[in-house]
Amino acid sequence: MTALQILADKTKVAAVPAAPPAPGPSTAAVHAGTTHPHAYHSLIAPLVQTATYTFDNTADLCAFQDARMWGGAQGRVEYGRYGNPTVADCEARLAALERGDAALLFASGMAAVTSVLLAMLPTGAHLVIGDDCYRRTRQFCQTFLKRLGIATTVVPMGDWAALEAAIQPNTRLIVSETPTNPYLRCLDLVRLVEIARRHGVKTLIDATFATPINQRPLDFGVDLVVHSATKYLGGHNDLLAGVVVGEAGLIDSLRQALGVLGSVTDPHTAALLTRGLKTLALRVQRQNENGQAVAAYLEAHPRVRRVWYPGLASHPDHAVARSQMLGYGGVVSFEIDGGLEDTSRFVDALTIPLIAASLGGVETLVEQPALMSFYELSTEERLALGIKDNLVRLSLGIEDAADLIADLEQALAQ
Ligand SMILES: Cc1ncc(COP(=O)(O)O)c(C=O)c1O
Repeated sequence: MTALQILADKTKVAAVPAAPPAPGPSTAAVHAGTTHPHAYHSLIAPLVQTATYTFDNTADLCAFQDARMWGGAQGRVEYGRYGNPTVADCEARLAALERGDAALLFASGMAAVTSVLLAMLPTGAHLVIGDDCYRRTRQFCQTFLKRLGIATTVVPMGDWAALEAAIQPNTRLIVSETPTNPYLRCLDLVRLVEIARRHGVKTLIDATFATPINQRPLDFGVDLVVHSATKYLGGHNDLLAGVVVGEAGLIDSLRQALGVLGSVTDPHTAALLTRGLKTLALRVQRQNENGQAVAAYLEAHPRVRRVWYPGLASHPDHAVARSQMLGYGGVVSFEIDGGLEDTSRFVDALTIPLIAASLGGVETLVEQPALMSFYELSTEERLALGIKDNLVRLSLGIEDAADLIADLEQALAQ
């Protein structure tokens, strides 16, 4: 018998395979969500770069419309704003990575945040946000949502009494980040979910700084997770995207809203994001290692006044971070011994980190928040937010830790 004949021998009873265990993050990052075979038996999910989709004839169109009215037209859509196979493939991978039912991609992280808030909050509703949340998120709540009659209360991060006191009968949502920018404050998710559920309020966590490799808020009972996929998820500083992950019904209603709001992801961006996601676990592992090594080095340096990194025992939220994170990420913030100009001189003396906004990519980036993200604030406003002149934020890439430390050493010596 040839090998082919042996394999074709139907008299043998095939063993029933046991249900596979949930894949680990590296396996999920490479394989999750994608279903083979793809068109043309392509190994990679094809990039379906189309704005619209055709129907064979009117009967085909009517059958689609009929199925859609009864919620059964799952296999296809009629127009690019309502869906795309390349985008769907990427969404399925992101849902698997966060261990959520479903994911929805947006044109940017801000598009994800603003669309979710617009879709979930009716006029007259109230939401609570942490004071350490991304500045643009806060700005959106306090200006755009306010105009729509949606009120926002800002509470100090981790002040549980203030959070409870802020919740009103019309509170629909609590929004927070963890870890936050630039001080990497970490919110106790168990406690947050306990309070929110007791008051019947939904929770949304912006987990951009953590990635699903280091922390999965849905495992703690959080309702929705958002990411700026521009950062670690894309990982190569070559795309802008955002994602929300959560329970299927909630994501489906957000998908309906996205069809109206329109801030969808381009299929080419989704293909780039899928490519980036395949190395997410490897990249984040290296960025965690670089973060820990650089933070420890800086903490021991006499010209550094203070280091903020959740992996250091000195960080105020180290215990919380340890209890809910598997790694602490690649962002390290620190205050150098000097003023605004000394700090700029230090930043300019660095040779590997590039001066740029953003984080999470393979290249190490550096910024002096006083001159980058908070440049338009007066010194008084900026200091009130805790953003000092001598603060530096380093977003570590995947370079060798020894090279990064040697570079910091020479820059600090200047
Ligand atoms: C925590 C966090 N959330 C959301 C955003 C917005 O994401 P994007 O720049 O992709 O719109 C950012 C961007 O810096 C961020 O840091």
